[in-house]
Amino acid sequence: MSDKTYVMLKPDAVASGHIGKIISRFERVGLHIERLELATVSLEEAQANYAEHEGKPFYEGLIRYITSGPVVKMVLSGNNAIATARKLMGPTDPASAPPGTIRGDFGLEMDANVIHGSDSAKAAAREIALFFS
Ligand code: RTP
Ligand code: MG
Repeated sequence: MSDKTYVMLKPDAVASGHIGKIISRFERVGLHIERLELATVSLEEAQANYAEHEGKPFYEGLIRYITSGPVVKMVLSGNNAIATARKLMGPTDPASAPPGTIRGDFGLEMDANVIHGSDSAKAAAREIALFFS
């Protein structure tokens, strides 16, 4: 089934010069790049995107981090795009992400874990509308 996902290369990935290497992994499996933009996430966008985490101990740091510098925003489509992107990304914590996954290869810490990808069709629709309105 073809679907769409919202993927965002976080500030650490952009600052470290990993944009091209990460995007090439999505191209390699045949996902189609529908939208692509370098931008800085506003406070309002960050709060809307991470509303589910409000009140958690890491929330303030997460908002500060995601707004700290440019990110790469993308809409990817293709067969099982949501699940495929999450599989390439690997587990949330880079410390337990295996080599070969994006977080395993480009990340070291939970607070700066390289990349975001929608975790459901509902989240994808909400995030695409939020970041490409
Ligand atoms: P994402 O939304 O960024 O794709 O990551 P995810 O689904 O794998 O993880 P999620 O639970 O949605 O958490 C969102 C982001 O919050 C940060 N986080 N830090 N210190 C912590 O315990 C903690 N837990 C989550 C991470 O940056 C995670 O990507
Ligand atoms: Mg998430």
